[in-house]
Amino acid sequence: MKLALRWQVLLLGFVLGTSGAFAADTPTPSIQAAPLAQRPGHAGIASANALATEAGFEVLAKGGNAFDAAIAVASTLSVVEPESSGLGGGFMATLYMAADKHSVFIDARETAPAAVNPKDYLNPDGTPNRDTALKGPLSAGIPGEPAGLVWLAKHYGKLPLTASLAPAIRIAGGFKPDERLLGSIREEQKNIERWPASAAKFLPNGNAPAQGEIWHDPDQAHTLELLAKYGDSGFYSGETAKKLVDAVRQAGGDWTLKDLASYRVKERTPITVDYRGYKIITAPPPSSGGVAIAEILNILSGFDLTKLDQAHRVHLVVEAMRRAFRDHNDYLGDPDFVKMPLDMLLSPYYADGLRQTIVPDKATPSSMLAPSNASDPGMHTTHFSIIDADGNMVAITATVNYVLGSTFVADGTGVLLNDEMDDFALVPNKPNVYGLLGSKANAPEPGKRMLSSMSPSIVIGPDRTAVIGSPGGSTIITQVLEGILAFIDGGDAHQVVAHKRFHHQYMPDVVTVEPGAFDATTSDALTHMGYTLKQREPWGFMNVVIWDRRTNKLDAASDPRRQDGLGKVQ
Ligand code: GLY
Repeated sequence: MKLALRWQVLLLGFVLGTSGAFAADTPTPSIQAAPLAQRPGHAGIASANALATEAGFEVLAKGGNAFDAAIAVASTLSVVEPESSGLGGGFMATLYMAADKHSVFIDARETAPAAVNPKDYLNPDGTPNRDTALKGPLSAGIPGEPAGLVWLAKHYGKLPLTASLAPAIRIAGGFKPDERLLGSIREEQKNIERWPASAAKFLPNGNAPAQGEIWHDPDQAHTLELLAKYGDSGFYSGETAKKLVDAVRQAGGDWTLKDLASYRVKERTPITVDYRGYKIITAPPPSSGGVAIAEILNILSGFDLTKLDQAHRVHLVVEAMRRAFRDHNDYLGDPDFVKMPLDMLLSPYYADGLRQTIVPDKATPSSMLAPSNASDPGMHTTHFSIIDADGNMVAITATVNYVLGSTFVADGTGVLLNDEMDDFALVPNKPNVYGLLGSKANAPEPGKRMLSSMSPSIVIGPDRTAVIGSPGGSTIITQVLEGILAFIDGGDAHQVVAHKRFHHQYMPDVVTVEPGAFDATTSDALTHMGYTLKQREPWGFMNVVIWDRRTNKLDAASDPRRQDGLGKVQ
């Protein structure tokens, strides 16, 4: 009788998925879990610059919410970190509204001007012209960031734009640039010198400002004032629009006033994926990031990574990355222009099929998968994360694409234009600046948004929540993925941003590895499985805020590879 009862308990334990031995031998304690916090009561912000983080807190102190703070952070970054993002670029944002537990995705990505002409990006001999793709006004898409800021204020903020933009306007009146900005100016000095308004802004005395020197950006302050006062029409029509179009056309570009007046922010449904009891809310197309992250997590959900040694864990993650990147290269583009098989790509059954193709203990050469026409975006971008006292959350990744974008400043505006046109597959099957190929789904067309890797994400777990993202071109996707896995494994904000990285993107068929990511045993095992490992300098600039709803503590951290201490809670 006693034995029969024990078997019944064991069987019940098995059916419930618990350990039979535990169920039979240990009385289950009745744990009364403390109720989870409903609102943090304080706020956390992590961005790439201390002045931007402070600007966010300043606006929260004025009664703003996370979305007003996001406007303050993004506009301040336009002034103090122009090498990465700004009014002349675009952003993507994942928002979570605590009041109704609703999330939404804001697409303020740049668009191609109506006169876009693929021939402008070709040399006479038909080879890609890297200069027009990356420098000067032809490389610039119609900016989305100003419209995105207006949209955030109008639909989600509590404060008028005049309040949320006030810190950026004040800081543009005089601030000390950090070494990263000064280094970027020195790096791009030759290109900056090609355009008088760019030189006037970035080389005030013929050279980059000296360290510690106060720098003034009065034209951008004025442009921000017009935006604050008039909203969309303060940028997309009237004085600023005319100056932008005149400057672009005089320098050989093809923008029109109509391009600017027609720019629209798109509100989209984020991609959501469930993984190990966590809900990941992330970027839909025209970012490739969320689709790839979801596909990778769906593949990985069929394995118990926690039971594996590092080499086998990395093997499975790399194989999932390889398969997701192959798809991203082939199918994805602007959803308003391209029909994409998203139902298939996001389906768990599709992931089941891909999982079956992973060989235990052996790398799958990318050449064995169906060939793809690859496409991939650029490296210089910024990300910030915010959670406010009510539990509203925002993850924003913003960009001008390559370092200092096109290096072209439109005279009289202080606006540095992006070089996002290079994120299109400008020349089919020809590598872009990062040596990668492009596909038809991402070919340039009038008014179309270029594919991005930006992956601003919010992860809601049973008792902890994270707001996460990073710059880094195609590595954005794998960084955010690995950050999410580190968070789900229990990492705090510092552990998540500091987590060592590796990256695979289908082509080239190489695993790039940050120094110290793998020990010798793991490297040897992976090499034995057939992987080519290539060490590369650390990459990314991840900024994360985590809310532990059990203790009601916020935790914010910035990437120690770039600058520690930029995450703050107060
Ligand atoms: N320009 C970088 C990206 O959008 O992914």
